Amino acid sequence: MCGIVGYLGPKQAYPILIDGLTRLEYRGYDSAGIATLEEGGKLRVEKKEGKVANLEAHVAEDIPKGTVGIGHTRWATHGPPSDRNAHPHAGSKGRIAVIHNGIIENYESLKDLLSDRGHTLVSDTDTEVLAHFIEEVMTSTGLDLPEALRIALKEVVGAYAIVVLDQSQPDRLVAARKASPLVIGVGGKNDFFVGSDATPIVAHTKNVVYLEDEEVATMTRDGKLSIRTIGDADVTPEIQAIELEIASLEKGGYEHFMLKEIYEQPRSIRDSIRGRVNLQRGTTTMSGIDENWGEWEKAQRILILGCGTSWHAGLVAEYLFESLARIPVEVEYASEFRYRNPIIRDTDVVLAISQSGETADTLAAIRSAKDAGAHIFGVCNVVGSSIARETDAGAYTHAGPEIGVASTKAFTAQVAVLTAMALHVGRRLGRVDDGVFMRLVSGLDNIPGLVEQCLESAPAIGEIAKLFAGAENALYLGRGYQFPVALEGALKLKEISYIHAEGYPAAEMKHGPIALIDEDMPVIFIATQDDVYEKVVSNIQEVKARGGQILAIVTEGDTQVKSLADHTVEVPRAHEALAPLLTAIPMQLLSYHIALLRGCNVDQPRNLAKSVTVE
Ligand code: AGP
Repeated sequence: MCGIVGYLGPKQAYPILIDGLTRLEYRGYDSAGIATLEEGGKLRVEKKEGKVANLEAHVAEDIPKGTVGIGHTRWATHGPPSDRNAHPHAGSKGRIAVIHNGIIENYESLKDLLSDRGHTLVSDTDTEVLAHFIEEVMTSTGLDLPEALRIALKEVVGAYAIVVLDQSQPDRLVAARKASPLVIGVGGKNDFFVGSDATPIVAHTKNVVYLEDEEVATMTRDGKLSIRTIGDADVTPEIQAIELEIASLEKGGYEHFMLKEIYEQPRSIRDSIRGRVNLQRGTTTMSGIDENWGEWEKAQRILILGCGTSWHAGLVAEYLFESLARIPVEVEYASEFRYRNPIIRDTDVVLAISQSGETADTLAAIRSAKDAGAHIFGVCNVVGSSIARETDAGAYTHAGPEIGVASTKAFTAQVAVLTAMALHVGRRLGRVDDGVFMRLVSGLDNIPGLVEQCLESAPAIGEIAKLFAGAENALYLGRGYQFPVALEGALKLKEISYIHAEGYPAAEMKHGPIALIDEDMPVIFIATQDDVYEKVVSNIQEVKARGGQILAIVTEGDTQVKSLADHTVEVPRAHEALAPLLTAIPMQLLSYHIALLRGCNVDQPRNLAKSVTVE
């Protein structure tokens, strides 16, 4: 996620901005920049790709002056990392500078409007469009910044936390937010500090105001803070005292990044389907597919390449595409694919899935497929990453930086995007009937709220974890769409608690693993209500008869499995194609709590790297 800082007060802004950006580095970013109003109101913008240290080196000979400024660390969502795509972005007249965290969904239509009015954009970003649009409203209405911003934001669709510097008003700083957090620190000497979270603020003041959605805040040098809603209603600022220390703030108050990222999933799934699934219109939008529709229309096979958790997301996609688009799918470990001299045709569509976009095996695999003439489509979480740059088209997950080595929100973001893709392709091919399409579009739109419900099981899962923490082995079993989730649950447990765990198709248990079952073997079943539910119930009975300890993930209200399993965790009812987005949550929480009980390093497990950039 991008990092935002701002300052207005009696002190020089630059050191405060740089310190703030440094404190926000944990959020993950690819470029950094600042803007200040120097003497005489000169707006100075300095920005560089790379680390904050790069930016500091860039200005070392001539430190930006001024007692009001804004700063930004960019996590790219539109346009690769580069100096010109870094924030702040100025308007066409260079009168204002804007920093932004979020996604402007309707930036293309705003861009068209602006180009009709003679605006020339120099970057690939949605944020620059916003800067020009705000300035266009100021120019065309004659309104001052706070009022012009309020008017402009009424036309903006998407998520934003923004801070705007106005060259003509050096005694003022204006901020606004919608669906992306923004905190205002109220100092004791007529000074204000702005941050994406409290991390860059607490060193200066513990008194903060949390801006709410669709609020515009104006800070002035005489220490006044006024807030209005975009609907033009006055809001009384509510100053709160922060109790948290900086160390915990970086994790958003959570003990570990992994736990924070597990709880971010309602937002990260929402952000990943934002602009791609429209319930009101009953449509899906996947420009990366539509711009290459010929490749998908002629596709005789979809070849999915990935590693680890991304490979599991690929297995879910196999069920999705074969069910909804009726295109044959093969899912391959990238590391195997690249070395086995595979048969690749120009009627193949290759789907490369990678959170980091840097996994060496996946990168090598797509290169060999590309050389053989296949169309390569990427699903990555890092904009401008190597894999993203080498694919012919793609769809980014907007999960934000995933710091914990064990992938959680990236997995559900991948599955959400893959679901939207399969719906889109199936619909365009005329292979999904309207009823199923609308049910899944509506169901997918509901998933973030249902994930919130799944997270409420955390305390119960923490108690179950106590019973399993001493285990030496574990078996995860599921069928159909839930088989990949069984594999994912086993991987989570393995990689952070170091317990040997295996995921298996539940039916396959009879062909070997059932020999492992005894009273010391935790068996985790995913037994949600779907077409194969009764078969899974039979498998549960087979394990019970052999004394296995059974934890079952069930659909809320289930009584049949509850009468058999030793422990059950409920997830809300959902279409079987969407259920992996829910059953993944208890899998993640179980592994997290067991690892914690075993004293393991949850965020940096032994021997593992977040991105395996070596073979
Ligand atoms: C998953 O929890 C692991 N961190 C690992 O299996 C990971 O999914 C794999 O290395 C692939 O990484 P990528 O998605 O960045 O390509």
